[in-house]
Amino acid sequence: MIYFDNAATTLQKPPEVARAVAAALSSFGGVGRGVHPASLAAGLAVYEARDAVAQLLGAPSASRVAFAANATEALNIAIRGLLPRDGVAVTTAASHNSVLRPLFAARDECGCEVRVAPHDARGALDYAALERLARGADLVVLTHASNLTGDVYDASRVARIAHEAGAHVVLDAAQTAGALPVDMAALGVDVLCFTGHKSLMGPQGTGGLCVAADTDVPPLLEGGSGTHSFDERHPRFMPESLEAGTLNAHGLAGLAAGVAYLQARGVADVAAHEARLVQRLRAGLARMPGVRVLGGGESAGHCGIVALNVGEADSALVADRLAAEWGICTRAGAHCAPLMHRALGTESQGAVRVSFGAFNTEDEVDECLEVLEVIAHDVSCGR
Ligand code: ALA
Repeated sequence: MIYFDNAATTLQKPPEVARAVAAALSSFGGVGRGVHPASLAAGLAVYEARDAVAQLLGAPSASRVAFAANATEALNIAIRGLLPRDGVAVTTAASHNSVLRPLFAARDECGCEVRVAPHDARGALDYAALERLARGADLVVLTHASNLTGDVYDASRVARIAHEAGAHVVLDAAQTAGALPVDMAALGVDVLCFTGHKSLMGPQGTGGLCVAADTDVPPLLEGGSGTHSFDERHPRFMPESLEAGTLNAHGLAGLAAGVAYLQARGVADVAAHEARLVQRLRAGLARMPGVRVLGGGESAGHCGIVALNVGEADSALVADRLAAEWGICTRAGAHCAPLMHRALGTESQGAVRVSFGAFNTEDEVDECLEVLEVIAHDVSCGR
């Protein structure tokens, strides 16, 4: 099998990740709920995960990293926490449903206004429109890299635009954390939401948000915190304020191992490796008549994603052939990014998304190209 669906979740992870989860399963008690060795072991592992994530992503300190189940939960916490009732939110058409749906729910349920900055047919963001739309906004939510095209958007430019307008800025780094060097302090964003199971190489069920020192995100969920048990209200200090209930310490031990791998190898090395694979695939596809590569408009970079279509063929049929006949795993159809599909004109065809991870190889890319050539030929012959 060739696994090219790393933008959905990474399958090949460093072996230390599975080892850390297995060890945690047989040794951890609840985090922050006891002073016995099993509980302390879990607490130490979670602290190490916080510290590693803070260092990797440029958060102010370990205590400004709150863990959640995934980027979706983190984005819901940030959006619900920072967008006031009747407030104004701005995002862009590249946003994933994990941004769009909480915003549209806030519009429908709390009277908020949602403004969406457009992208053109090659995926380029209209920054001037975003700047106009940001006037009077309370919150700007930017997707760092499109999960469909892999194009990266200029987060520091958008942070400047948001702050000049007096708005908070939240960055959805689901596709970039661990795939590209990302430093929230250098980018100037107030909140960075990440998932653990993609390029950070942790298990599914891990993710979270890094919150700038001067930003207060109120809790979305309230409940057990392990401290201040007699208070009627959930504590308002980070990170406990955003982590009601028992944490997934088993998963976070795995996440810490994934981040340790990245720190040892260097995110820049992973990024350069994936960029070489993207370049190789794109160069091969450019020689293939009838194949359209999506995105690639003006952007601030690119992550390890290539989205394509073969003639007018339904993307699901192409991906099915890749998987069933040659064991090449990609994702097809819509990618939870409806407005981006609309901008690219791929609402009905969807897209075949090839997404690389740190362990894919050039040989795998070459094999994929050979197979796509066969499929492109068949499609051109009406087969
Ligand atoms: N958001 C993930 C993806 O793009 C699941 O596939």
